[in-house]
Amino acid sequence: MTDRDIQEHYRLGFERERIRDGTSERLEFVRTWELLGRYLPRAPARVLDVGGGPGTYAIPLRAAGYEVELVDPVPLHVEQAGMGVVGDARSLPFADASADAVLLLGPLYHLVEAEDRLAALREARRVLKPGGVLATATISRLASTFDGFAQGYLADPRFAAMVEGDVLEGIHRNPEPDAHPEWFTTAYFHRPDELGGELEAAGFVVDAMLAVEGPASYRKEVDEWLADERREPALTAIRRVETDPAMLAVSSHLLTVARP
Ligand SMILES: C[S@@+](CC[C@H](N)C(=O)[O-])C[C@H]1O[C@@H](n2cnc3c(N)ncnc32)[C@H](O)[C@@H]1O
Repeated sequence: MTDRDIQEHYRLGFERERIRDGTSERLEFVRTWELLGRYLPRAPARVLDVGGGPGTYAIPLRAAGYEVELVDPVPLHVEQAGMGVVGDARSLPFADASADAVLLLGPLYHLVEAEDRLAALREARRVLKPGGVLATATISRLASTFDGFAQGYLADPRFAAMVEGDVLEGIHRNPEPDAHPEWFTTAYFHRPDELGGELEAAGFVVDAMLAVEGPASYRKEVDEWLADERREPALTAIRRVETDPAMLAVSSHLLTVARP
């Protein structure tokens, strides 16, 4: 079962607004889409979007010619995506060696227990064909510390106490989910080396670890740059340092590509 508070958080329906489908011009989407384009096999290929939410990537991938199936534990997301099934990353309703690519852009940061993340990774490995591609998204261990300054949330002692737990244990639990849904919901915040170890323990070989937002993390105003002449200089600057170890540690999101 997915944690009740994760279900409650996503039942609010913000996820569809947070990053819209292919029309989105948010940095997280633009960079993730760029990196998927670089590492996914060419269309038509079979992509399983596990934790696919409201179809943020599944919808444009399908439009790009991929055969996409989506799994998500939140019924509202499956409904909004207009495809897929309600399910859990730890037990996938797909045959062995049946996918060219698996996306885990959500489950690894919502499963707080290492054994559950391992179960999700083993399932991804089971359903991937030999030579298939896994793409995972994780959140930095330091994300709430940076966001606490960027958004001013650290002035609230309840947020400050939560950040201490995030940094020490990696386990993020929002003490005020109703009053402050913007503080996110139950999650696990990774350090890059730890993620590499988890992937290897599940039998994957890591191809690439990439900072998604890198130096532009925690700066919501950069989304606006994507609409004008500042777009290319911004994306070029981010790409230049996307594999820098310092960026891997601080970038809001990491996209990691691995193969069985
Ligand atoms: C922040 S959303 C990301 C959605 C989309 N993949 C994206 O990257 O924009 C995280 C998603 O992970 C899903 N999720 C949480 N726990 C999961 C689990 N155990 N198995 C599969 N998906 C899960 C949530 O329901 C939610 O749709």
